[in-house]
Amino acid sequence: MRKRNQKDAVCCSRRRGIVLVAILMALWLLIIAFSVTIIDNQLNDASNYGGLAFLTAQNVDASTPLIQNTAHDAIGNSTLPNYPIDHRNIVSSNQLSPEVVSQCHRALWHTLETTTTVLQNQETFIITGDIKDMWLRDSAAQIHPLLLPNVYEEKSLVQLDPRLERVVSGLILKTAKLIRHDPYANAFSSVIKNRTKFEKIALGRHGYVATRNYELDSGCYFMRMLYYFYQSFPDHTILKKKEVKEAVHIMVDLWIAEQRHELDAFPSGELFDCFECRRSYWYNPNQMPRDGKGTKTNHTAGLTWSGFRPSDETCVYGYLIPANMFTVVVLDYMLQISRNLWKNSILNRKMTKLRNEIQYGIDRYGIIHHDRYGDIYAYEVDGFGNYILMDDANVPSLLSIPYLRYSYNKTVYDNTVQFIYSTDNPSYHKGWNEWTGEIEGIGSSHAHKKWEVIPSDVWPMSIIMKGLVSDNATEKIRLVHQLLQASASTGWMHESFDVNNPFNFSRPWFCWPDSLFAELVMSLTRECPQPSEGQYTIMEWLDSELLPGSVFARDE
Ligand SMILES: *[C@@H]1O[C@H](CO)[C@@H](O)[C@H](O)[C@H]1NC(C)=O
Ligand SMILES: *[C@@H]1O[C@H](CO)[C@@H](O)[C@H](O)[C@H]1NC(C)=O
Ligand SMILES: *[C@@H]1O[C@H](CO)[C@@H](O)[C@H](O)[C@H]1NC(C)=O
Ligand SMILES: *[C@@H]1O[C@H](CO)[C@@H](O)[C@H](O)[C@H]1NC(C)=O
Ligand SMILES: *[C@@H]1O[C@H](CO)[C@@H](O)[C@H](O)[C@H]1NC(C)=O
Ligand SMILES: *[C@@H]1O[C@H](CO)[C@@H](O)[C@H](O)[C@H]1NC(C)=O
Repeated sequence: MRKRNQKDAVCCSRRRGIVLVAILMALWLLIIAFSVTIIDNQLNDASNYGGLAFLTAQNVDASTPLIQNTAHDAIGNSTLPNYPIDHRNIVSSNQLSPEVVSQCHRALWHTLETTTTVLQNQETFIITGDIKDMWLRDSAAQIHPLLLPNVYEEKSLVQLDPRLERVVSGLILKTAKLIRHDPYANAFSSVIKNRTKFEKIALGRHGYVATRNYELDSGCYFMRMLYYFYQSFPDHTILKKKEVKEAVHIMVDLWIAEQRHELDAFPSGELFDCFECRRSYWYNPNQMPRDGKGTKTNHTAGLTWSGFRPSDETCVYGYLIPANMFTVVVLDYMLQISRNLWKNSILNRKMTKLRNEIQYGIDRYGIIHHDRYGDIYAYEVDGFGNYILMDDANVPSLLSIPYLRYSYNKTVYDNTVQFIYSTDNPSYHKGWNEWTGEIEGIGSSHAHKKWEVIPSDVWPMSIIMKGLVSDNATEKIRLVHQLLQASASTGWMHESFDVNNPFNFSRPWFCWPDSLFAELVMSLTRECPQPSEGQYTIMEWLDSELLPGSVFARDE
């Protein structure tokens, strides 16, 4: 009897348990359905960004100073070093050849001397080099060395020289205006061009838009420029301007909408007054599946969509992991500026929520287990479990994660680097030539266009990046010398070259990697910059006000 009763009791409590679990599950589903409705309503109403974070609810620490790595968030208290590491006190001048130092001076000023126009209206227009349009990414990256802290007499170059400050604040204003003109565009021309019907309709080009290949990293570079300016120049008048604040707000709203690219979401509100802004944008049907919409993405994965990579090639899966990492970093930057200068709590809430959602998406979908390398970061994912394992030379890349200052998991990053420098990565190339000897690096599918086939292409930018993320000064010194040997006797950093023949290269005049090269050398020696060795002139100065320069300005 007793036994039986006991059995009954077990059976009944189990049954009761099952009923309870079923009720709980039903409740849980209801809560989820309810929250999703709230979220969707919130997303449609830009003015109502309540505290309801649907994925994670951590807060961003407003007090974090950010010329410092935020890595302690991800890996306990063991902070990761900031890159590039300042090795200037341990490298002696005889370890660098005079050619490296003199090329650093040429590279540092290349953008100002050959691509920069200081306009009459407070703005600055900066082309890429041999392509005569302004890319948001490239232009901000090209002036980046001017914003680095502590490069000469413990100051940044913009602090030392009013003309350089004028160049950068002009670029900030120009970029803000162009983002308002069309936040989906990645490159702009200085004049309005005539368009074909196809360009207007399928490619969305209008006004000053040179190409409308929506790239997540374009806005990231703009915000990184704002943040470095904020850190390296004491007067924040430019940053407080309405146009600048609004450009950031526009980009943030666009990134939020593009989390729901799949649902054809687009941002709305008075800031979105541009031609074509009021509809979700689809791209060249010849380049992207589903008539230009791109492959399917999970709209609740937290990640934000990008149509194109920093190489300007189309994404295979819409969630580009390194660009999403860069987005997390710059949202933290903008939170600091917003809290200190703009004091816009609606924007802060949007940015905090977006940042946390993206972080969730990276952690959940961006790390893939590889049989040979262990857990590694994926290049692109769709939020359904599909992914591409590869890297590309163009930054943001997986190799550049520490340089971007993203709080990475060290084990996963180290595994990823092992993968990147292996033949399992389709863009990895290794070869030999009589100028450099054995050489390896990362290429890009961008160099495989019909009009410029570079076999076994390696991009100097990838070799520079290997140095920028290295904590080994000897290795960095080796790489800067190798870069010069690989430059086909020009000294300039080209776009790509054949590992077995550096004389077969693309783009002889490409200022972005020149600026990166200068940044790498500047982390090794105080001999660059040095006014006695290298000074600049600005290609075109149309502003009626000619500001006094500094020891770096060459006055004819
Ligand atoms: C970092 O990644 C490794 C490998 O996936 C994992 O074992 C470890 O827990 C991660 N560390 C943190 C702090 O998340
Ligand atoms: C991290 O730092 C905090 C504050 O300094 C300290 O309280 C905590 O114990 C540290 N955690 C670890 C894992 O060292
Ligand atoms: C644009 O096309 C029109 C008509 O063909 C022509 O008159 C005009 O000069 C063109 N403008 C430019 C900037 O090419
Ligand atoms: C989409 O992402 C959400 C959030 O991570 C996840 O719960 C859901 O399972 C994903 N959908 C599919 C079909 O994988
Ligand atoms: C640093 O780099 C040099 C040159 O590439 C290499 O020989 C050396 O083994 C590296 N040191 C460490 C600790 O990795
Ligand atoms: C570069 O390599 C391609 C492919 O092998 C070849 O067609 C082209 O002629 C080469 N160009 C030069 C300048 O060597």
